[in-house]
Amino acid sequence: MRPPLCLPLGKGEMREKNNMLVHIKKIIQAAVKGKYAVGAFNVNNLEIIQAVCRAAEKMKSAAIIQTTEGAIRYAGLDELFALIKAAAEKVSVPIAIHLDHGHDFDLIKKCVEMGYSSVMIDGSARPFAANVRLTKNVVKFARPKGVWVQGELGRLEGAEDWIKTGKGEAFLTEPEEAVRFVRQTAVDTLAVAIGNYHGVEKIVEKKRLRLNLRQLEKISRLIKIPLVLHGASGFSANQIKAAIKLGIRVVNIDSELRVSFATAERKFLSENKKEYDPRKILGPAIAEMQEVVERKMKIFGSAGKA
Ligand code: G3H
Ligand code: 13P
Ligand code: ZN
Repeated sequence: MRPPLCLPLGKGEMREKNNMLVHIKKIIQAAVKGKYAVGAFNVNNLEIIQAVCRAAEKMKSAAIIQTTEGAIRYAGLDELFALIKAAAEKVSVPIAIHLDHGHDFDLIKKCVEMGYSSVMIDGSARPFAANVRLTKNVVKFARPKGVWVQGELGRLEGAEDWIKTGKGEAFLTEPEEAVRFVRQTAVDTLAVAIGNYHGVEKIVEKKRLRLNLRQLEKISRLIKIPLVLHGASGFSANQIKAAIKLGIRVVNIDSELRVSFATAERKFLSENKKEYDPRKILGPAIAEMQEVVERKMKIFGSAGKA
């Protein structure tokens, strides 16, 4: 029998749901109310979008799907937005789209025009006053259009796009500075640096990383907007759960998806040297990434809440 022409949600699931992309505030406000966190998953192509949406549907969890500037350079803004929107329309759970690590104001404007409900302006590499100035300008642009803005204060170790931050260059978010940052910029969500770490290196090198939960507690006591944990791949479930208890409401995951994608591909291709069908080659990677997302949703406490 010819399969139906819609996004396959997973084995045996081919549903037309006619849901829509929702505003990120709906998803984050529900997490704030329920004291859990929602996963923000980085996507670069159809297969990662499928993995996230299938997991979200199966786990009955909301999800934030985010694209970096690098993802947009690779796949195209129109293309990624259309893929995410189409996938979101096929699931029964809320999906929101967010620009992750925005640096370029022009691209931020394009994302807002395109229909992103949230954008990040990452001024974390700049001095405090310059970060405030830049972030404030983005809020001034996005707020009248109903779009949420995420700012970042403090600097994570690791690699994010072309920016590499070494051990000596990273610094934690200072609670009092965070208060001034939020007051002066009026951001909707704040990404914090509390020992979290960007990139796959920490996973492949099996680094033993710990979050500075005392610092998070101090920040949480003073900051009333939802807090975002970047660089969360590779941290233990216990560490992440403790951070959620202390007020983290969005957890960013990219590296674990990359590692599971690449590992599944390497294994499949080495075991199937005569396979040339991209659908068969990419299938195992989608399944592996879906498992990663499902596991995260359980840890974050968002499973069963949508
Ligand atoms: O922090 C975000 C990502 O892990 C970096 O991803 O290479 O798409 O910029 P990117
Ligand atoms: P990881 O590198 O830990 O996956 O973090 C992703 C991230 O912070 C995206 O913004
Ligand atoms: Zn990040």
